[in-house]
Amino acid sequence: MKVLVIGAAGFVGSHTVDLLLRAGHEIVGLDNFRSGRPELLAGALASPRFVHHVADALAPGVLDGIVACVRPHAIIHLAALVGVQESLSEPELNFSLNVRLPWLVAEAMRVHRIPRLVFASSAAVYGACPDAPIAEGSPTAPLSPYGAAKLAAEHILLGQARAVGFSAICLRYFNAYGPRQHPASPYSGVISIFADRASRGLPLTIHGDGAQTRDFVHVSDLARANVLAATQADPLSASYNICTGRPTSLTRLADLIGTRSDLPQLVRYAPLRPADIRHSCGDPTAARRELGFETEITVEQGLASLLKEQPLVPPLPAGWRREEALLAGS
Ligand code: UD1
Repeated sequence: MKVLVIGAAGFVGSHTVDLLLRAGHEIVGLDNFRSGRPELLAGALASPRFVHHVADALAPGVLDGIVACVRPHAIIHLAALVGVQESLSEPELNFSLNVRLPWLVAEAMRVHRIPRLVFASSAAVYGACPDAPIAEGSPTAPLSPYGAAKLAAEHILLGQARAVGFSAICLRYFNAYGPRQHPASPYSGVISIFADRASRGLPLTIHGDGAQTRDFVHVSDLARANVLAATQADPLSASYNICTGRPTSLTRLADLIGTRSDLPQLVRYAPLRPADIRHSCGDPTAARRELGFETEITVEQGLASLLKEQPLVPPLPAGWRREEALLAGS
């Protein structure tokens, strides 16, 4: 099967490309490296079944030209302005990348009669939804331009799918983490930040009391959800939560890191972030029923493998106390 991946060089995109290639598919990537990184495609580029175009999908004619030329069986649209903070500081870019670009994709689907679309949406569409767990029928009330744009894009794509007759699967990712998420980025998730800091012997900062919870999904599970949604026979066009259904508190995260480190107590507390959501846990039932998708990696397993890739600080030099090591490393 031939698949066009828009946003192929991103954190989720590159894992998705690798998995599609492993499954024997033929892939065309599109990414202008705005937030994607060329090095994430190094493995994929070694495959004769992968071709990558470095181009801005928003530029006139680019998307239409590539879709016309490739005529893929499915498009996986992952390119986006990622994250709440960036959407607040760059509202116009948020509109262009997270609303206008999905609309261009919807138009390319229509014009070139592409049968299947997978779209990366976000749990941000739910805002501070009090439901536990949050199901697809729970109220959507985004708290940011990012969440609002993702919800608008879902409506644009699902409306076009119904009007034109292609299938559109919108995947609402909960908190993503895993290898290739850049810990230095201000938009990086808490697990990448914690794993990176632990590996450098730096203290972990918990904003608030640490009792807030999230539903953490490993990127290889996200990639698998993308591939299943793109290749599954006749799935229902709809939005689906991609989540584990299990909440993990920040305190538990810090404890998990502590138990793997000889620096167990390195946590400091800072004020709660503005507009922080207290609890967020998704209901994975619909994705299991309609897509046959279930997460495979628990947060304990995912964190352990991340920490293995980023070895924790070496044993302290003789005579050093932890505080000294910390000061030297900070
Ligand atoms: C995440 C997404 C966001 C999405 C939302 C959907 C990321 C980076 N952000 O936001 O795009 O809209 O899910 O629900 O994935 N924290 C600390 N210390 C740190 C970093 C974070 O205590 O060093 C806390 C935060 O205050 C928050 C929790 O960890 O309570 C999770 O933060 P983060 O990983 O940034 O994700 P969300 O805020 O849930």
